[in-house]
Amino acid sequence: MSKQDSSMQAPAPVGFAKGLTNYGDREFSVYLRRTFASSMGYSREMLDRPIVGIAHSASGFNNCHRHFPEMIEAVKRGVLAAGGLPIEFPTISLGETFLTPTSLKFRNLMSMDVEEMTRAQPMDSVVLLGGCDKTVPAQLMGAASADIPAIQLVAGPMSTSRHRGERLGACTDCRRFWAKFRAQEIDANEIDKVERRLASTAGTCAVMGTASTMAIIAETLGMMPANSAACPAVDADRLRIAEETGRIAFDLIGKPIRPSEIITAQSVENALRVLLAIGGSTNAVIHLTAIAGRLGIQVDLNRLNALSESTPVLVNLKPTGEHYMEDLYAAGGVPAILREIKDLLHLDCRTVTGETLGDRLHDVSWVDHAVVKPRAEPVRETGGLVALFGNLAPRGAILKRSAANPDLFEKEGRAVVFASLEDLAHRIDSDDLDVTADDFLVLQNAGPTSDAAMPEAGYLPIPAKLARAGVKDMVRMSDARMSGTAYGTIVLHITPDAASGGPLALVRNGDRIRLSVAHRTLELLVPEAELERRRAALPVRAEVTAKRGYAQLYEREILQADEGCDFRFLKP
Ligand code: FES
Repeated sequence: MSKQDSSMQAPAPVGFAKGLTNYGDREFSVYLRRTFASSMGYSREMLDRPIVGIAHSASGFNNCHRHFPEMIEAVKRGVLAAGGLPIEFPTISLGETFLTPTSLKFRNLMSMDVEEMTRAQPMDSVVLLGGCDKTVPAQLMGAASADIPAIQLVAGPMSTSRHRGERLGACTDCRRFWAKFRAQEIDANEIDKVERRLASTAGTCAVMGTASTMAIIAETLGMMPANSAACPAVDADRLRIAEETGRIAFDLIGKPIRPSEIITAQSVENALRVLLAIGGSTNAVIHLTAIAGRLGIQVDLNRLNALSESTPVLVNLKPTGEHYMEDLYAAGGVPAILREIKDLLHLDCRTVTGETLGDRLHDVSWVDHAVVKPRAEPVRETGGLVALFGNLAPRGAILKRSAANPDLFEKEGRAVVFASLEDLAHRIDSDDLDVTADDFLVLQNAGPTSDAAMPEAGYLPIPAKLARAGVKDMVRMSDARMSGTAYGTIVLHITPDAASGGPLALVRNGDRIRLSVAHRTLELLVPEAELERRRAALPVRAEVTAKRGYAQLYEREILQADEGCDFRFLKP
């Protein structure tokens, strides 16, 4: 047999026969693997099937994923019915509120886990089952780098609860009630009761926070089944979606539909459009930048500004509106949003099912316009987010204008500076703090290269004495992030960050700062010569201070927010 004949006849190995450990004898490797796989009770018929891996992030430290066992069963049902062998495996989980210093610090670690385990273990396609804020971007980053056929499945949002007749959903209402408690409008007994009602089912935060935003972005990118992002975690539809996901994952095997075919410059632009139209989380800018960056696609903040001018906010969900994610599902879900802005989208982008994004809009038959506004009556005429530039943020900063107070958009103020989160905690509620509602609160050293590792601390509390006086909002700015469930006139992700010696590190108490949302500017009104003097006086920072392990890797490799806070060595 000629060499050409032999290569034509040898089918590519599938299932347990692929990705073998090399002992120098291929047949022995197959035999040995089957021997050990057989110990799990698989029949020979099952051992010969293509494998659909199910990478999931269930954990006792992740309340949002507590229903994953039944979702995994439903995925398996779909894979088995289609003719594959489903095999689940755990990866790192990132429960948003259970990690210190912050979940973002470990997103890249999880992405490495997903990338390496989907590549190293024998699977022909993979279902990525996640949901809590950082898990979806971590899974998509890993899948983009591994580039094996992959489909995303999310936990789905929590259902709302009630307190004294009022509807509650984590975690916009968490912040609202905590602000009431700080202002002494409610007592300790009531906040205790509210604490037990805010998050009462499985699933991700019930509002348009980061988890919901990332689920919608994953659907818009084409990495999930149509109309799957908003379905509640506890709805029977969620299990049907899981089963369908299993079938689609099997159908992907052998097809040229890899993440790199789906996540393209056009689909990333679609995702940015939708992020703006939903008034989505500021965190999504970082995550989308990191996901796209794994495939060499750059997210340009100037382009974000251009898109923001021509994209209306259409979704009336908290924290910028009134409703919750379960209402979005009942209102028509993501396809209803996409249909409303279809003239702004690249409809020919391919999705994981093989259909185009445009194909997915044909089934939209009814939309609740109280939740998804018609184009002619938007929640806002322009997009939810804008990027700001200036001598205080040469590489950009983000403001969620849809969650901010327009009265504060064109304003000059006096800086009240906190040098760190510890300094903030120590002084913010002091009656001696020299602060008025017209000042700008400035937090330094909470960016990606700081020891704090860019926590969601950008939602600086209103100083207690101002809160008691009825102040609800004031201009606040930092190199930190903000929860997607929060609101206020808050400038985030100032880049480069203070810990790396960015201009934010040069701000001093009493400096004047000018914010102009109309001009997209953030300027520190201090003469350049004085800034130069302050820059020269900054303490010299050791390149790497962590002695070992992941902390050292993080310090050495972390990139700034405008590069998605990815690791330098994980870029393509
Ligand atoms: Fe998991 Fe909010 S805590 S999504």
